[in-house]
Amino acid sequence: MRFSNVFRLSTLLATAAVQVTAVEYNVTVGGSAGLVFTPEFVNAQPGDSVFFTFKQKNHTVTQSTFDSPCQRAVGGFDSGFLPVSAENVDGPFPVARLIVRDTQPNWAYCHQANHCQQGMVFAVNPGDKFAAFKAKAMASGNPPVSTPPAVTPTPPPPTPTPTPITGMDHRIIVGGPGLLSFQPNNIVARPGDTVTFEFHQKNHTATQSTFNDPCKPLVSGFNSGFKPVGDGVTNLPTFTVPVNDTKAVWVYCAQANHCSSGMVFAINADMSGPNTFEAFRAKAMGSTSSSIPPNNVGSSSTGTSIPAPTTTNTGAAGRIDVRSVTGLVILFASLSFLL
Ligand SMILES: *[C@@H]1O[C@H](CO)[C@@H](O)[C@H](O)[C@H]1NC(C)=O
Ligand SMILES: *[C@@H]1O[C@H](CO)[C@@H](O)[C@H](O)[C@H]1NC(C)=O
Ligand SMILES: *[C@@H]1O[C@H](CO)[C@@H](O)[C@H](O)[C@H]1NC(C)=O
Ligand SMILES: *[C@@H]1O[C@H](CO)[C@@H](O)[C@H](O)[C@H]1NC(C)=O
Repeated sequence: MRFSNVFRLSTLLATAAVQVTAVEYNVTVGGSAGLVFTPEFVNAQPGDSVFFTFKQKNHTVTQSTFDSPCQRAVGGFDSGFLPVSAENVDGPFPVARLIVRDTQPNWAYCHQANHCQQGMVFAVNPGDKFAAFKAKAMASGNPPVSTPPAVTPTPPPPTPTPTPITGMDHRIIVGGPGLLSFQPNNIVARPGDTVTFEFHQKNHTATQSTFNDPCKPLVSGFNSGFKPVGDGVTNLPTFTVPVNDTKAVWVYCAQANHCSSGMVFAINADMSGPNTFEAFRAKAMGSTSSSIPPNNVGSSSTGTSIPAPTTTNTGAAGRIDVRSVTGLVILFASLSFLL
């Protein structure tokens, strides 16, 4: 069992060196398995990551609470809707990453229509309560039944400690063979989340602009700089930006005419009104010029409390992100091959 090996090794490393090697869990959302997260829960340690790969249909992973399984938790994590068409069988698929902060239970569901009431729920560290959580979710779809008052009033449950806000990383695929796109191109993200641009083939940027000037750099906005990626490259460069608030963030690719070809991206664009993603993209496609930011080195996106991966090795099996803990960085790019 490679997984337990990875885990044992990471525990060993952690105890041996007071440095933590995080484990990564993969969860498939929807797809051929139906309205389900596969697996339905994971048991994880602080610093571990859960990568949600969204397959066909149109799902979310949204934090809720044990008591209200199908309601968004205030301040909780939310991937937003990540639709995948039935024709997309080979990917790339949208991925959202949840960074586990503690050993408390974290409850989640799919916010689409009545998927939750059909049992589409997920948990991190549920203990022995997952079945109860799922049953509660499924029961929440039924009209309330008038239950006779209980004879012995059950003592009120201990006030649950508020679920800690856990950051989520939204992975955006930039480019790829024959593609001038950000995928997905219009996401919802919360303060504390991060957005990681993963650069695929050709030579793109993720450069912040404004709604009014989609293809011009925002002065002091973020900029990944050009990330040329040749064919067949598997170790893809990434650029991570922390999400600081709920304001809309507008982004374009500064290469040649990519922006006016519609290669733009938005975080928290308005759902309706004048400033929607569609309006932004239409404006970009109507632009006659696109500018390259003066500082073409990637601006730093560090300084966040969300640990960003120091290495991202998308090609390797059993990916392990090694993070900086108390200022120490261990770089084991491909630890799994040792196992
Ligand atoms: C995905 O679902 C949401 C909520 O129902 C909806 O607003 C959105 O248009 C859907 N996207 C696609 C591409 O079907
Ligand atoms: C990437 O594009 C930039 C801007 O067009 C250019 O200066 C740079 O040389 C390109 N890099 C490669 C490796 O093609
Ligand atoms: C959030 O703040 C950091 C630090 O000021 C900055 O580098 C980053 O670009 C900001 N994120 C966004 C989405 O504007
Ligand atoms: C998780 O998914 C990634 C990307 O698909 C894959 O490379 C990796 O092998 C998976 N890890 C495990 C432990 O299944």
